[in-house]
Amino acid sequence: MLSKVQIIHLPKIEDSRGNLSFLEGNSHIPFHIKRAYWIYDVPGGQVRGGHAYKELHEFIIALSGSFDVLLDDGKNKKKFTLNRSYYGLYVPKMIWRSLENFSTNSLALILASDFYSEDDYFRDYNVFKNQV
Ligand code: TYD
Repeated sequence: MLSKVQIIHLPKIEDSRGNLSFLEGNSHIPFHIKRAYWIYDVPGGQVRGGHAYKELHEFIIALSGSFDVLLDDGKNKKKFTLNRSYYGLYVPKMIWRSLENFSTNSLALILASDFYSEDDYFRDYNVFKNQV
């Protein structure tokens, strides 16, 4: 459900030597982190994602640059632009999501609630929508 999606602001320790942000699983974000992956060197105009997860929860951060996250719970759609490293987007399970409009040199870090499993993917939008 899109109502469970939320932007979560992370601690930001400002310092003349440079800023520092951090997060801890089950604390700043509502799940235990089992996996991290990142998307980078995205050619202009390319779209990543385009799937939903049956059980996986994710937290998406723009560590560098900016990109848009398009979400669709089968009924409603919403777009978020991520462009700062001190907040991120919590995306629960059963939400169709795409990442697009990547700026040059952008870096997307995704923290996930479980290990990689192809069985957990909906890769066909119609199958996802029927399940909703
Ligand atoms: P995929 O999730 O389809 O990428 P996108 O976000 O663009 O939809 O993953 C692309 C490929 O990488 C796919 O073959 C599965 C593999 N992969 C892993 O092996 N482990 C992972 O943690 C992830 C996220 C992907």
